[in-house]
Amino acid sequence: MQTLTQMKYLRAAIKAEKARGKRITLVPTMGNLHEGHLQLVRRAHQVGDIVVVSIFVNPLQFGAAEDLDNYPKTLAEDQEKLEKEEAHYLFLPSVEEMYPNGMDSHTTVNIEKLSNMLCGISRPGHFLGVCTIVSKLFNLVQPDSAIFGEKDFQQLTIIKRMTSDLCMPIDIVGMASARAHDGLALSSRNSYLSSTDRARAPSLYETLQQARDDILAGNLPYKTVCDAAIEKLRTMGFNVDYFEARDQQNLALLDSKSDSTKIVILAAAKLGSTRLLDNISLTLN
Ligand code: PAF
Repeated sequence: MQTLTQMKYLRAAIKAEKARGKRITLVPTMGNLHEGHLQLVRRAHQVGDIVVVSIFVNPLQFGAAEDLDNYPKTLAEDQEKLEKEEAHYLFLPSVEEMYPNGMDSHTTVNIEKLSNMLCGISRPGHFLGVCTIVSKLFNLVQPDSAIFGEKDFQQLTIIKRMTSDLCMPIDIVGMASARAHDGLALSSRNSYLSSTDRARAPSLYETLQQARDDILAGNLPYKTVCDAAIEKLRTMGFNVDYFEARDQQNLALLDSKSDSTKIVILAAAKLGSTRLLDNISLTLN
């Protein structure tokens, strides 16, 4: 695996691979790689010939009060894991490399409607930062496909929409969330959980599964199901940001009378200061 820190070398390497007829797959990450990321890398090998992984903790997607400075960094371990997974290139730019003119007046990409809901309400500007950096990475790497985890379902939906709206010829591949043995969706932020909170955390997914079963049973309005889930999580000590049934394609809020049959129940909740995200999809007959 070659580690490249400068855009010019990455462009040259990609140009040479494309000249050899290779199909390029990009896996954008912020590092602190866990099994979920490694599954994305394995999938990348299946859909393309050359796997490019980026590690960049993008300041533009963090709010002023968020964990940018403390975001877990484990570069040596990450490199070792990527070597084992036989990634071909690691792109590891500095902030100066990615934002040579600073971030204040940088061109931004904003998919407004999809960004101003769910996580976008408590994290204003977050998806603008994500779309901006992902567009830059797409322009640099010009991959045939790019792989993202479904744990960040809203992010995946926004990136699919951005790619389609901006006519980017890139296949966006979503991958099911990787989970710990007890069901907790893997996330770099899980390492912030205290041992008590770590023991409680799987209840988020259990509550999503219960809500899915209740919706499939078809007896109750979706809002009643979600309100009951919120109440249950609150009694267990979660500080719930949202727990909602939405359309899988456009994230429109659904009620039991909606025509939509492809539903995703999305949840975000804090345990202590750690924000957990999860979701579950279901299809009505
Ligand atoms: O999901 C992430 O890790 C980040 O939001 C991404 C897509 C790498 C952009 O910085």
